[in-house]
Amino acid sequence: MLRLFSLVVTTCLIYYSKNQGPSALVAAVGFGIAGYLATDMLIPRVGKSFIKIGLFGKDLSKPGRPVLPETIGAIPAAVYLFVMFIYIPFIFYKYMVITTSGGGHRDVSVVEDDGMNSNIFPHDKLSEYLSAILCLESTVLLGIADDLFDLRWRHKFFLPAIAAIPLLMVYYVDFGVTHVLIPGFMEHWLKKTSVDLGLWYYVYMASMAIFCPNSINILAGVNGLEVGQCIVLAILALLNDLLYFSMGPLATRDSHRFSAVLIIPFLGVSLALWKWNRWPATVFVGDTYCYFAGMVFAVVGILGHFSKTMLLLFIPQIVNFIYSCPQLFKLVPCPRHRLPKFNEKDGLMYPSRANLKEEPPKRIFKPVLKLLYCLHLIDLEFDENNEIISTSNMTLINLTLVWFGPMREDKLCNTILKLQFCIGILALLGRHAIGAIIFGHDNLWTVR
Ligand code: UD1
Ligand code: MG
Repeated sequence: MLRLFSLVVTTCLIYYSKNQGPSALVAAVGFGIAGYLATDMLIPRVGKSFIKIGLFGKDLSKPGRPVLPETIGAIPAAVYLFVMFIYIPFIFYKYMVITTSGGGHRDVSVVEDDGMNSNIFPHDKLSEYLSAILCLESTVLLGIADDLFDLRWRHKFFLPAIAAIPLLMVYYVDFGVTHVLIPGFMEHWLKKTSVDLGLWYYVYMASMAIFCPNSINILAGVNGLEVGQCIVLAILALLNDLLYFSMGPLATRDSHRFSAVLIIPFLGVSLALWKWNRWPATVFVGDTYCYFAGMVFAVVGILGHFSKTMLLLFIPQIVNFIYSCPQLFKLVPCPRHRLPKFNEKDGLMYPSRANLKEEPPKRIFKPVLKLLYCLHLIDLEFDENNEIISTSNMTLINLTLVWFGPMREDKLCNTILKLQFCIGILALLGRHAIGAIIFGHDNLWTVR
C-alpha cells in the first residue's frame, strides 16, 4: 500500500516537473523516490543469488559470524545510473520542446526562466552531466573488480583519478578556473587577490577523486556506517545547496542546482540500502558502494565548483585517514581487518588491536606511539619490562571506543554519524561566516 502510494506520488512529481517551470529539482525528488522503491524491492530479491556466486562475507560482529551477501552496493549504484539516464530528457525537456519559425525550422526553443536562461540547447550542461555518469560507471566497475578480486592497494589506488579524466576534461573546457582566493589580510602583503594553481589545481581535483572513495571505504566495518556516513554527507551537501537556491549569483545557484540534481536520487537509493545494511545488517554494501558513493561527492564537488567546501564535510574522513597513516604506511603493523572486536559474552564492541610483539613497529615510531598514548589518542598494552605488546588499531571507530568505552554496534555507528553531522554543520557555519570574514566575501554574501 505504502509502495503504491509512493509510486503515485513519484509519478505526480515527475509529471508535474514536465509541465512546470523550475522542474529539475521536482523531478529529482520524484526520481529519488523511484530509486528508493526500486532499490528497496531489488535488494531482498537478489541476496541469495549473490551468495550463490560467492559474493558473501561473514558478519564478524555477530555471534556465530553469519554469512551475508556482499557487494549489494552494486544494486543502488546500478539503479542510480539507470535513474540518471531516464532523468536526462526531464532536465533538458524545456530545451527540446521547440516552436518552429515556419518552414519546419527548429530554431526557437521554448524557454522557461529557471536560471539557465538561454534559448540555445546547453551542450555544456549535458556534457557535464554525461561526464559525471561516465566517471561513476567506471568507478562502479572498479568497485565490483575490487569486491571480486580483492585488488591490492598499489593496483587500485590511482584508478579513480583515471576514471575522473572525462570530468576534468569537461571542467577544463567549460569552466577552467584554477585560481584560489587569498585571505583578505594577506592580499596587501602578496599584492594580489588570488593565486593561479594551473595544472596543480587539476592534480588537486584528481587527488580528491582518489581520496573521497577510499576515505569512505576505510571508515567502515560497523553495520550501517558506510551508508550512514554517505547519507549524512548527502544531507549536509543538500543543506549547503539549499542556501544558494534563493541567494548568491546566478552561476553559483546553477551549480548548486546541478549538485542537488545529482545528490537527491543518490540519497533515495542510499536510504533504501541503509534499510538493509543498518544494524543488524542483512546485507553488506561492499567496496562497490564505498567507491561509487565517494565518487558521487567528488563529482558534485568538482562540477559544482565547491570542492573545498565538500572537503570540509569530509573532516571526519580526513581525520580518520591521517590517524590511519601510521598503519596504512606500515610504520605500525596493519591487520587485514581493523574493525572493532566483538565480545560474544556481553554483546559489546571493544577496540581491536594490532600485535606489536610479533611484528614490532619502526623503532623511530615507538616514542610517537607513547606520546599518542599519553594524549589518550590510542590504547597501548605493556609487558612487565614496559615494552609495548599491542596498540588499538588507528581508526576513528576504535578511537570512539577508547574514549567512550565499549558499546553496542548500533550505538557505535550512531555516535559516529552524529559526530559527522555536528562537525559538518559547524564546518558549513564556519565556511559561510568565518570564510566571508577572512575573504571579505563568500559566494553567498559580501561582508566588505
Ligand atoms: C576496510 C578497512 C578494514 C576494515 C574493512 C571493513 C582499512 C585499511 N581497511 O578494508 O580495516 O576491516 O574495511 O569493512 O582500514 N564487515 C563486518 N561488518 C560490517 C562491515 C564489514 O563484519 O559492518 C566485514 C565482513 O567480513 C565483510 C568485510 O568486513 O565481508 C568487508 O571488508 P572489505 O570491504 O573487503 O575490507 P576493505 O575495504 O579492504
Ligand atoms: Mg571495504
